[in-house]
Amino acid sequence: MKPTLYICREMPEEVIVPLRDVYEVDMWHSSSEAVPRDVLLQKVATADALWTVISDQITEEVLDIASHLKIIVNMAVGYNNIDVKAAKERGIMVTNTPDVLTETTADLAFALLMATARDLMGAENALREGRWTSWEPLGFTGVDVFGATLGIVGMGRIGEAVMRRAKGFDMTVLYHNRSRKHETEEMYGCQYVELPDLLAKSDFVLILVPYTAETEGLIGKKELNQMKETAILINVARGGIVDEEDLFHALHTKKIYAAGLDVFETEPVPLDHPLLTLPNVTVLPHIGSASIRTRMAMMKLNVEALQSWAKGEEPSHRVC
Ligand code: DGY
Repeated sequence: MKPTLYICREMPEEVIVPLRDVYEVDMWHSSSEAVPRDVLLQKVATADALWTVISDQITEEVLDIASHLKIIVNMAVGYNNIDVKAAKERGIMVTNTPDVLTETTADLAFALLMATARDLMGAENALREGRWTSWEPLGFTGVDVFGATLGIVGMGRIGEAVMRRAKGFDMTVLYHNRSRKHETEEMYGCQYVELPDLLAKSDFVLILVPYTAETEGLIGKKELNQMKETAILINVARGGIVDEEDLFHALHTKKIYAAGLDVFETEPVPLDHPLLTLPNVTVLPHIGSASIRTRMAMMKLNVEALQSWAKGEEPSHRVC
């Protein structure tokens, strides 16, 4: 008998085909709508393997029902949607999809930084709505990226990739990280600073730390107050790292200049969210890794992990 695999989101058939040789594959029928909780709970009760995406919350409640489950392959580098400790206690391995999305996510982070600095979305909307009446001396003006200071909070693979882009823009790069990266400092001339220093000196503060109990609410009122009034906050990591109420207040009262957000505490972000009412916020629907090539590469990593497990081999990229 083949082991059973439940895939929580519809994936392209050509991706799934090789898995059909080794698994009884069952899949949620939509790629855009998340699998409902009751369906997930029902499916997980009999699955040996589970393919998740970041919006599938694999809590202890889910794992308690999953009495056959041996492996979860999460199609993301972040795995805060899975209770990894509880999985480990139950002998369930978890894999993720690092590396393949580094450059694509760095592209998006830099694109969002530039779009926010120059309010590209605001300018485009003005044009489309007929509000471009003439060339205005101070119309549609933003702030410069070239030569500015970028503070990267979380200097991992994506942080380094963003820094390489920033160097092309002659930016000074400061970073804060759990551990110092001496080699990176030597190679790129970036400077390690404590968080308050980074916040006080940066024109752009880019959040790239993983979302954990320690980083939840890392950027709140106190930290936002430490930033320059001309500074821009960019978050492409996870929404919960920044306190959204404090961010709203800081943007509304012009304590900081603007924010670019690809991630939110609740996703999809509710349309009546106060942050969406502000003109100095650029928002995106969590598309950091969203290039076709990268998403296909992420799927491939999940397929390979599942194939390895089915053959009794050690899957790559285990997080537990
Ligand atoms: C990740 O991989 O963690 C992204 O947020 C989703 O691609």
